[in-house]
Amino acid sequence: MYDNKFSEDVSSFFRSPVREIFKRVDLNSIYSFAGGYPSAETFPMEEIRRTMSEVIDKYAGKAFQYGATQGVPELREAVAARYGVPVERVQITSSSQQGIDVCTRILVNPGDVILTSNPSYLGALQSFCSYRADIRGISHDPDLETFKKAYETVLSQVEAEGKQVKFLYMIPDFQNPSGESLTLEERKMLVSLAQEHGFLIVEDSPYRELRYEGEHIPTMYSLAPDHVIHLRSFSKIFAPGFRLGWAIAHPDILDKIYVCKQSLDLCPPIFDQYVAAEFLTSGRLDENLARSIDLYKGKRDLLLSLLEKHMPEGVTWTHPEGGLFLFLTMPDGFDAVKFYDTALDAGVAYVAGEFFHPDRSGKNTMRLNFSFMSQERITEGIRLLADLLRHEIA
Ligand SMILES: Cc1ncc(COP(=O)(O)O)c(C=O)c1O
Repeated sequence: MYDNKFSEDVSSFFRSPVREIFKRVDLNSIYSFAGGYPSAETFPMEEIRRTMSEVIDKYAGKAFQYGATQGVPELREAVAARYGVPVERVQITSSSQQGIDVCTRILVNPGDVILTSNPSYLGALQSFCSYRADIRGISHDPDLETFKKAYETVLSQVEAEGKQVKFLYMIPDFQNPSGESLTLEERKMLVSLAQEHGFLIVEDSPYRELRYEGEHIPTMYSLAPDHVIHLRSFSKIFAPGFRLGWAIAHPDILDKIYVCKQSLDLCPPIFDQYVAAEFLTSGRLDENLARSIDLYKGKRDLLLSLLEKHMPEGVTWTHPEGGLFLFLTMPDGFDAVKFYDTALDAGVAYVAGEFFHPDRSGKNTMRLNFSFMSQERITEGIRLLADLLRHEIA
């Protein structure tokens, strides 16, 4: 009935298969490795209650009024101080998903090329499609020269087609879905390519502070602050329900995001921003982060040891040093989309890796989340999944 009413953009929207899974099943009634939810155990309920009441006492009506589009000064300043950047380079966003969307909106015309990893974050792919971008996924290669060649090949193709690469979207720290990180050399190589070929980098790093082992690697932003838009989120270090994140970029880029956000939501949620600012400056964020890291490290270690113990021959997996996910690869010919119904009927859920691949490869892969379930349920869930896979692969 409304078919000829919708814009052309609408025809390129696609639904998140992850959210479709949530509609089909109650995640609490099955073993769910599917979502990317943090554990509710990491939400510091008492501290949040206390901070909320402090904010009401301190700011009264101001806490519930409209505020600056860039974000309240208290939160921008707290973010600038914590991450060592000038406050003029900080824009608060209503979550990092919005950060991705506004970057695409201000940079991309229909048909423009966005480079990304193959696989990449589904929510970003949804946003890119909604602006009718031409997405080119490039697979990782552990050999730096081969990895660079893969990028150069795509860049020459795009040039030959008379198209423009607008930006490279990367999740260099504990990527969603693979859990893997880019080395410093890989970051430097990509930044050089961006500078040489004149495209920007959107560096999305919501998991950066959830590191369980190894050394921190410099951000791509720190390597080239005028070529990189750095996106962060409070979702995984505080709580996703606040829907808060931030962008760090050159003021000329932030100015366009600022105008774009005026038409989107006028300003990020004010009360939530004051709560986040108090939480950050009082040191409660760091205390809570330390507890979350402890909890998730335990779950990651458990998952790795369970996979080692139970997975059949031919199944391999990534070894993330942080974040919330790891990626499983089954032998060639395995179809994780088809296998999904078998798994769900038996009571275990995952997300098929194919959905994260812009080129629709990765049919034999799946993403497993380890933050959401308890250790007991992770243990039972992996035993069950391994049994099902053994049966299927044999
Ligand atoms: C890589 C990546 N970017 C962005 C987001 C969105 O996070 P937010 O809750 O800040 O919108 C997610 C959520 O899972 C993610 O994995």
